[in-house]
Amino acid sequence: MLDAIAAYWNERIHDLEMTDAPVGTLQFFDDLDDYRFDKLRYLPALVDFSGFPDKRLLEVGCGIGTDLVRFARGGAQVTGVDLAPQSIALARLNLELRGLAGQADLRVGNGEALPFDDAQFDVTYAHGVLQYTHDARRMVEECRRVLAPGGLAIFMVYNRVSWLNAMSTVMGVGLEHADAPVLNKYSIPEFERLLQGFSDVRIVPERFPVKSRLHTGWKAVAFNGVFVGTFNAIPRAWVRRFGWHLMAFCRS
Ligand SMILES: C[S@@+](CC[C@H](N)C(=O)[O-])C[C@H]1O[C@@H](n2cnc3c(N)ncnc32)[C@H](O)[C@@H]1O
Repeated sequence: MLDAIAAYWNERIHDLEMTDAPVGTLQFFDDLDDYRFDKLRYLPALVDFSGFPDKRLLEVGCGIGTDLVRFARGGAQVTGVDLAPQSIALARLNLELRGLAGQADLRVGNGEALPFDDAQFDVTYAHGVLQYTHDARRMVEECRRVLAPGGLAIFMVYNRVSWLNAMSTVMGVGLEHADAPVLNKYSIPEFERLLQGFSDVRIVPERFPVKSRLHTGWKAVAFNGVFVGTFNAIPRAWVRRFGWHLMAFCRS
């Protein structure tokens, strides 16, 4: 199964279709950073990318290194692991183009069997990865094993009980990467159970509707013109638990 997961992600760089710039250029990486942080406005508000100077930070499933660049810019000593060789090659280029390669260690590797001794990192981070791996529990346990005592683990999975999951069913719009070899979604209690090995867990539902470039025709009118405004007019406290992304902040 891990071979199929690696092969899938090696061919499908996350969000690749969001830029026309040649793959591997600075413009390419900048466009994908812009797209990501426009869509995920909550992310820099919840994760202080500059808040880990000199800390040893491991990103599991780092993709092309978009978030790793931000952590490295903030002064963290970053390590990135991904199953897909193509992702690691691009992540390396991304950090090199920005003069950050000196503080980065990038490796093709499996987050379910990390090639590191126990207690090597102050922070582990896996955004949008547990839901695509074969054995999410093993990945969580590996992230916990390599954390130093008191270290911070940050994860994001998709919320099964969310506006986007409901809407994709009603509008017949497939979820991104629905064709991946593994795509799991979790309710909040299921996610809590997955993380029960940590001493302290805080789950924050996020990712509410924003206008999307993905829809066209009547779906664009219904989604961008009607749904986004209506949903966002409801007090956030009433609908927070239906956010599409479940962020977790865990202490070892
Ligand atoms: C949706 S992409 C997310 C990439 C990046 N974290 C982001 O948010 O843009 C999922 C990534 O997880 C990686 N991945 C899936 N299972 C993995 C595993 N067991 N070990 C390491 N990486 C894995 C894939 O290769 C892919 O790059």
